[in-house]
Amino acid sequence: MIEPFRIALAGLGHVGGGVAQILLTRGAELSRRAGRELQLAAVCARDRHKPRRADVSSIPWIDDAVALANADADLVVEVIGGEGEPALSLIRAALENRKAVVTANKALLATHGAQLAMLAEERGVPLRFEAAAAGGIPIVKGLRQSLITYGIDGIHGILNGTCNYILTQMEATGRAFAEVLAEAQARGYAEADPEMDVGGMDSAHKLALLSALAFGVPPDVRAVRVEGIRHISRADIAFAKEFNYRIKLLGIARQTPHGLDQRVQPALVRLGTPLADVGFVFNAVVANAGAAGPFTFEGRGAGEEPTTSAVISDIVDIARGERGPAFGWPAKELRAIPPAPPDAHVSAYYLRFDVRDLPGVLAEISTYLAREDVSIESMIQRGRNPGEPVAIVMVTHECSETAVSRALTAIGISDKILAPPCMIPIENG
Ligand SMILES: NC(=O)c1ccc[n+]([C@@H]2O[C@H](COP(=O)([O-])OP(=O)(O)OC[C@H]3O[C@@H](n4cnc5c(N)ncnc54)[C@H](OP(=O)(O)O)[C@@H]3O)[C@@H](O)[C@H]2O)c1
Repeated sequence: MIEPFRIALAGLGHVGGGVAQILLTRGAELSRRAGRELQLAAVCARDRHKPRRADVSSIPWIDDAVALANADADLVVEVIGGEGEPALSLIRAALENRKAVVTANKALLATHGAQLAMLAEERGVPLRFEAAAAGGIPIVKGLRQSLITYGIDGIHGILNGTCNYILTQMEATGRAFAEVLAEAQARGYAEADPEMDVGGMDSAHKLALLSALAFGVPPDVRAVRVEGIRHISRADIAFAKEFNYRIKLLGIARQTPHGLDQRVQPALVRLGTPLADVGFVFNAVVANAGAAGPFTFEGRGAGEEPTTSAVISDIVDIARGERGPAFGWPAKELRAIPPAPPDAHVSAYYLRFDVRDLPGVLAEISTYLAREDVSIESMIQRGRNPGEPVAIVMVTHECSETAVSRALTAIGISDKILAPPCMIPIENG
């Protein structure tokens, strides 16, 4: 007779409430799949008296989250959130006590992941985090287990549902960023403080985890260049469409001969390619798995059910006895790769110049671009009323990021240019 597998659950909010509910209502079927009985052994949250979706009244309650690490349990689920306490001490204490840990906490792992992975291995227990990157999409397992044969050349994807919703709605309704953000907040698709999402940090946390899995580097959010979507205008979205592109906030991580390129930034993706059609709150990740080719993973990247689904899958894996290093490489083998310098980044660019419609302005822009070897593939200029503001929009051939930046700095100081030029890379594939 195999002993029950006992689970201590820290956090009973969106994700923890879902996990408790599934363990209490679908526990029998999941136990059959796991090959042993899954038992909710203890729970913890801030407020013992708060009404909960799952009836946890018969489950032992522990007030102090860190003390949950001492509960009579095989595994601790941390779904409190936050980069620091008490989540960090709870995970550390649980691993120290040789308990397996499942967490959905991308912010914490993107900073402390390497150190926690090392502790887990020293203690001989698994640390799992499928829910921490792209919610319900099984990209963590994909990169840790399924796509390792030929190595991973690169990953890029839509990692934040709030930003994807905002960009999708801006295109669909022609409304400005601020207006669509307010609507997203009213509908519960964006937090009251949306900065983590629209500023790109949430995507950066997830990208740091995916990079670790793909390239064997310690997860390090500080190594990710981050740019959000606040400056994306409806004009850019409309012009991009005229060139057959759509603007998406992408997380991109690639091995280059010059180092590891890790970026979160808005990019143009060609209509008809897999990421262009991923709309609203959906996430998607393309993993280029060497000779095995590209694989696209798509689905719901957040929300109670998708995230609960990912947490439960980790619990069942561990109950079955699956082990192996947290990031798919032994923790002591994780090695930082120097970041690729910006001049190593080559791509085509979308450029927008808000100019006064005067003779010679286009020639001036073209001269500065030519000086930096930036050649133009196509161009749109609209609303020709001499002396009035007008947008000149271009798509360049492939060139280095630093060359375009230098040209734009020179162009930006001209008195014919009314606002800092806009520059967005074009991402292929
Ligand atoms: N929501 C999603 O769609 C989603 C998606 C992917 C990953 N995640 C990650 O999942 C984690 C949880 O997110 P969530 O949306 O479920 O958060 P949430 O709804 O805010 O729930 C947080 C839970 O933690 C409890 N808690 C907070 N501080 C505590 C403390 N000091 N001691 C004990 N318990 C404490 C809260 O207790 P009370 O209920 O008593 O206040 C609540 O039950 C985060 O790391 C998040 O990044 C969430």
